[in-house]
Amino acid sequence: MPATRTVEVLPTPADLFHAAADEFVRVGNAAIARHDRFTVALAGGSTPKSLYSLLAKEHARFTWRKTFLFFGDERHVPPDHPDSNYRMVNESLLSKISMPPKHVYRVPAENRDAHAAAAEYEDDLRRFFQLKPSDFPRFDLILLGMGTDGHTASLFPNSQALKEQSRFVVANFVEKFNAYRITFTYPVLNHAEEVMFLAIGADKAPMVSQVLEGENSPPYPAQRVRPADGRLLWMLDEAAADRLTS
Ligand code: 6PG
Repeated sequence: MPATRTVEVLPTPADLFHAAADEFVRVGNAAIARHDRFTVALAGGSTPKSLYSLLAKEHARFTWRKTFLFFGDERHVPPDHPDSNYRMVNESLLSKISMPPKHVYRVPAENRDAHAAAAEYEDDLRRFFQLKPSDFPRFDLILLGMGTDGHTASLFPNSQALKEQSRFVVANFVEKFNAYRITFTYPVLNHAEEVMFLAIGADKAPMVSQVLEGENSPPYPAQRVRPADGRLLWMLDEAAADRLTS
């Protein structure tokens, strides 16, 4: 199936989160109908928190028992740290739904060695997806956000992880934070069945315009996410879409 790109613009953040929750459930139900499970990698940061809360509030009866949750990236901190994406997902979603704990694959980011944590998480993916050495995991859905600098997951401009074409998960040193992040790489992102970006707010509008309509060399990190055989969906509120021409 050729890669397709869809951009949906919703009037307000609340409209966006409802539409994103509906898409999450649609993709999940389709995946469960297709292969009796739903594999999804969640985004971190602040934007998706409202989506996770909405899923917990309005979709408690979703088939969570056939859902397997992963994290597209994680900060190099323990799971109870204020910056932890796992902590945010646990507070907004996991603590409010009945999901088997063994279905949640947390990045072992408490490991003092970020590279070892990344390698361990990659092993988790290999085992879960029962991959041959040359295969890449194909998630049914990967949720992503985008920073105002065009980063996504923890693939930041000018960082080493942008070059990775064989590892699934790497520890990426991010200059601006003077810290490591643990992140999926492009091979994993671009093998997904569907990638859904969520972006809200006027501060994201200039970069949304660059990523969706700009000719940039080198491309911004978010611009390089194009599932080779999957669907790319951008969900924006009107403020974030304000600079788009089409
Ligand atoms: C993270 C995310 C990151 C996030 C963007 C946007 O760990 O922070 O994975 O890629 O999606 O930074 O963050 P906001 O949604 O907070 O603007």
